[in-house]
Amino acid sequence: MLAAYGFGLFALPPYRECSRGSWRLIRHLPSLADGYVSPTVMEADRHVLYQGRTPWMSTGLMERESHAYHVHAARGAVVVAGLGLAMYAYAVAAKANVERVIVIEISEDVIELMRRAARWDYWPSSRKMLILQADARAPSTAAAVADALDGRRPDYLFADIWRRCDDLRAPAEMAAMVGMLNPALAGWWGQELAVARLARTRSPGAAGADAVTPAALDACFRELGVPVPVTPGYAAFCRDVMAMNEAGAPVGIGSPGLRRLWRGLTGRASER
Ligand SMILES: C[S@@+](CC[C@H](N)C(=O)[O-])C[C@H]1O[C@@H](n2cnc3c(N)ncnc32)[C@H](O)[C@@H]1O
Repeated sequence: MLAAYGFGLFALPPYRECSRGSWRLIRHLPSLADGYVSPTVMEADRHVLYQGRTPWMSTGLMERESHAYHVHAARGAVVVAGLGLAMYAYAVAAKANVERVIVIEISEDVIELMRRAARWDYWPSSRKMLILQADARAPSTAAAVADALDGRRPDYLFADIWRRCDDLRAPAEMAAMVGMLNPALAGWWGQELAVARLARTRSPGAAGADAVTPAALDACFRELGVPVPVTPGYAAFCRDVMAMNEAGAPVGIGSPGLRRLWRGLTGRASER
């Protein structure tokens, strides 16, 4: 990834299995897994966060690849909507160019689960972190974030509060959070699929992924009201993500067609 796009994967915190309320963190045995931009791979193991029987998030390759650009883009004062596995919070807090990480998480159980499962009180970077229990979409949360940052404008806002990738509500909800928190730059989980789709509808004459140029992406993010930084490497990433997840692609090793077949056979359609 680093050579192809200018950003790469990041380290994970040390996890242990735990449960709290209806939430559980479970370690899964090695299995085949999809990437976000990479073909299907055999993964050594991964941790999965469940609420009841519903998977919310895992440490699998798909998640790490889809968080990678947001880890790369984060700097200064970072606001994170959605703690989940604390995977993103851990990665950005470890960066030398990140000074402060404010995480907004709606569920007290998730916060307490991750305190034990990811042990964030003991991270070397934990002094940079503050967790706010709040609804990231509620207008009142902006005052709590401003307080936590002593009035400083956030340099980067990353939101991942949706269970499914490319949730159709995400762009509008993200724009609303940007309006409330006024970050210099921002991004949300799965934005590549949403914006690549929009870029293609805006340039119907261009063929497929060719429409996903840096300028076209920039125009789409502006239209959506989210200040996403677009580099040539990031545009290449968007094109590859789009090609990898495209409906109607032929079945082959690591192809979207094979992914759908595999998901259908194993019932993993709903897992993140
Ligand atoms: C998929 S997880 C986030 C994973 C995270 N990106 C990571 O790297 O581990 C989504 C989290 O968002 C939280 N959440 C859902 N709706 C929320 C909201 N309105 N405000 C704040 N947190 C929310 C959920 O409780 C869950 O912990």
